[in-house]
Amino acid sequence: MLILCASIVIPFSSVKAADPAKGKAIFQQNCASCHNVHKKLTGPALKGVEDRWPDKKLLHQWIHNSASVLASGDKYANDLFAEYNKNAMPAFPAFSNEEIDDILAYIKVEEVKIPGGAAPAAGATAADAKDKGSDNSLLFGIITLVLAVVALILMQINSNLNKLANDKEGTATPESIPFYKNKAYIALFILVLFMVGGYFTINGAIGLGRQKDYMPEQPIFYSHKVHAGINQINCLYCHAGAEKSKHAMIPSENICMNCHKAIKEYAGPELFTAEGKKVDGTAEIHKLYDYVGWDPEAGKYTKPGRPIEWTKIHNLPDHVYFNHSQHTVAGQQQCQTCHGAITEMDEVHQFADLSMGWCINCHRTTKVQFADNNYYSIFEKLHQDIKDKKIDSVTVEMVGGTECQKCHY
Ligand code: HEC
Ligand code: HEC
Ligand code: HEC
Ligand code: HEC
Ligand code: HEC
Ligand code: HEC
Repeated sequence: MLILCASIVIPFSSVKAADPAKGKAIFQQNCASCHNVHKKLTGPALKGVEDRWPDKKLLHQWIHNSASVLASGDKYANDLFAEYNKNAMPAFPAFSNEEIDDILAYIKVEEVKIPGGAAPAAGATAADAKDKGSDNSLLFGIITLVLAVVALILMQINSNLNKLANDKEGTATPESIPFYKNKAYIALFILVLFMVGGYFTINGAIGLGRQKDYMPEQPIFYSHKVHAGINQINCLYCHAGAEKSKHAMIPSENICMNCHKAIKEYAGPELFTAEGKKVDGTAEIHKLYDYVGWDPEAGKYTKPGRPIEWTKIHNLPDHVYFNHSQHTVAGQQQCQTCHGAITEMDEVHQFADLSMGWCINCHRTTKVQFADNNYYSIFEKLHQDIKDKKIDSVTVEMVGGTECQKCHY
């Protein structure tokens, strides 16, 4: 009887309108590095995905944990997996069913928009807002200009009428001063110059040191797509620090040599630089030998090595504290969320703008693993609120993730 009641009540209580705005935030945070609604990126374009998955429960299960759907032997899923070079999608066990519905609702809203024009920029909430801002400022600029011209014309008419009236009465009109000598005009001009100049200076200063999309040329053309993509080498094999310490760390040459003592030639797909120049992979491997002093013919080290001077791409200012292990282990964030589709990049570029807004936005929307976590046992009030069902989850912000001193030394 109880089960019967429950099965009647649950479907009704769980019918809550899905919220595409919420879905958009979740999508941009977690999915946009690999998916676009209209375009194929690392993963398929998600337009019309609900029609491709007639079983909604299975689609939910896929997003929660695609590996479990693949393991169940579902044909569509396994074909798709093969089509995408067995590139596994990360699991998202923390999402509730409502949140997945929000994402699907967002895709539904987005798929009717014209691609290109309205398609969301990957992961760029901040950039989105900025674009809108500049659209508005253009509009305001035009309105200001029109109003200024109207005001000038009116002033001209006014002075002409004054002159006419004076002539009629026979009083002499004082010699009019040309506008470039008029003190009021000069003061106004300087004021405007200050405001425009100040606007650009401040904008420039905020952007100083930011370098989204930065992609320096590296001493060796080392491709993440070849290593982490095609050959599926785990990120942590080379960046072990990302789960253990503050820094992810760049691997030392002897880690490269674990494999490259044996792999002397490159026989994979053709490689190109961003400018479209062809790269000889074998020659690049020999650059590595030159750095470490390895003689591939003799099979031994013949001269002292020197370090490869990789150019660092991601740089936070010194006053910011950022810790990798806190984000990848405690926070369970995927590398790709912050670094983009690294497995598709031959040359790494900076995916996120690393601005303060970027950190804060994620802290506002991302939930922490709160229950049964000793780290959070001090938050008695939040635990009580969950017990009292006042809240159903806790974001990073609620545990202090937006307090200045957490991120600033
Ligand atoms: C690291 C890259 C990556 C991320 C992040 C990612 N996906 Fe995927 N997704 C894939 C790949 C690759 C596939 C193709 C199937 C496969 O290879 O497993 C896929 C397939 C899918 C499919 C099936 C598409 C179809 O055509 O039937 C859905 C739905 C999906 N992803 C939703 C999501 C959602 C929702 C998120 C965010 C919560 C997300 N994905 C995040 C890589 C990713
Ligand atoms: C075989 C070793 C290796 C593997 C595997 C590897 N990387 Fe790297 N990674 C490097 C080297 C070497 C560099 C420095 C050269 C460069 O920037 O391309 C680097 C650079 C990076 C950078 C830029 C660092 C900077 O300078 O700011 C990021 C981000 C990164 N890797 C992420 C990843 C992710 C994510 C994965 C897994 C998908 C991964 N790497 C797998 C060797 C590796
Ligand atoms: C776990 C094994 C492994 C490690 C570690 C490794 N590589 Fe490779 N590397 C490979 C494989 C596999 C290929 C592809 C060979 C092929 O397709 O013929 C490759 C190809 C290359 C190439 C040619 C293609 C390209 O990316 O330009 C270069 C250069 C290279 N590796 C440099 C490095 C450097 C530098 C490191 C250390 C940061 C490193 N590798 C670490 C396995 C490894
Ligand atoms: C993709 C989402 C995401 C982004 C982007 C992000 N964080 Fe976080 N951050 C988290 C999560 C999730 C946690 C909670 C980890 C935990 O449970 O301890 C966290 C926790 C933290 C904490 C500890 C907060 C506390 O209350 O103990 C600091 C400090 C922090 N992040 C700094 C940063 C900085 C600095 C940046 C930007 C350079 C940043 N984060 C960007 C998701 C993110
Ligand atoms: C929450 C966002 C976030 C996640 C998740 C994340 N990173 Fe980073 N990563 C950053 C930021 C921010 C920097 C710049 C750090 C700095 O300048 O101090 C960075 C820098 C790096 C660097 C340059 C070297 C260093 O330690 O500064 C590498 C390599 C790297 N990340 C690899 C990874 C790998 C591999 C993963 C997944 C295991 C990962 N990152 C997950 C945000 C993130
Ligand atoms: C989640 C982490 C985080 C928190 C919380 C945070 N900041 Fe920041 N803040 C950053 C990052 C990252 C930068 C570097 C931005 C850049 O390089 O553009 C930054 C930069 C700044 C700057 C330098 C100006 C600039 O744009 O470079 C000031 C000032 C600042 N923060 C003040 C504050 C104050 C005040 C608070 C508390 C209300 C605060 N921050 C909270 C991450 C954080």
